[in-house]
Amino acid sequence: MTIRDILTYPDERLRQVSGPVVQFDAALQANIDDLEETRLAGPAAVGIAAPQIGWFQRVVIVDVSGRKKTRSHGHLVLINPEITEWEGFVLGREGCLSVPDYTGNVVRAERIQLHALDREGKEQSFEMEGFEARAVQHEMDHLDGLLFLDRLVSRRQDLFQRKVYKE
Ligand code: NI
Repeated sequence: MTIRDILTYPDERLRQVSGPVVQFDAALQANIDDLEETRLAGPAAVGIAAPQIGWFQRVVIVDVSGRKKTRSHGHLVLINPEITEWEGFVLGREGCLSVPDYTGNVVRAERIQLHALDREGKEQSFEMEGFEARAVQHEMDHLDGLLFLDRLVSRRQDLFQRKVYKE
């Protein structure tokens, strides 16, 4: 396993739209392991998306189980994820390994129904809410070349500088 470099804003490669995974081979497994090791190597982010390490396929990892009072499905590797239902809207604070100097307030769906494949290519589906649903929506945005910066209602009011990366 290898810790990979994380692309950071304003790197244009973060704008690229990623393609679906079609082969569940050894190369995929190795990339997933690198993605996870890279997620854990820094400030242990609750999520990471493949394009953040320059791998432009539709793969994200989310694990919010370390957060107190947060419902979660544990550690998830989500391949070719699709949100099939949305419900409610909620404003919340987000950070991103690719935007290390800022956090921002972003509106997301409160509850989602999610379909994805696991790392073996098996179908899985989840009902998610709250912070876990937010994390998945944030990571899935990366697959379409979007950052939380693109979803701020107001840059002046909803963007915050931080000195130390915490989440
Ligand atoms: Ni991010």
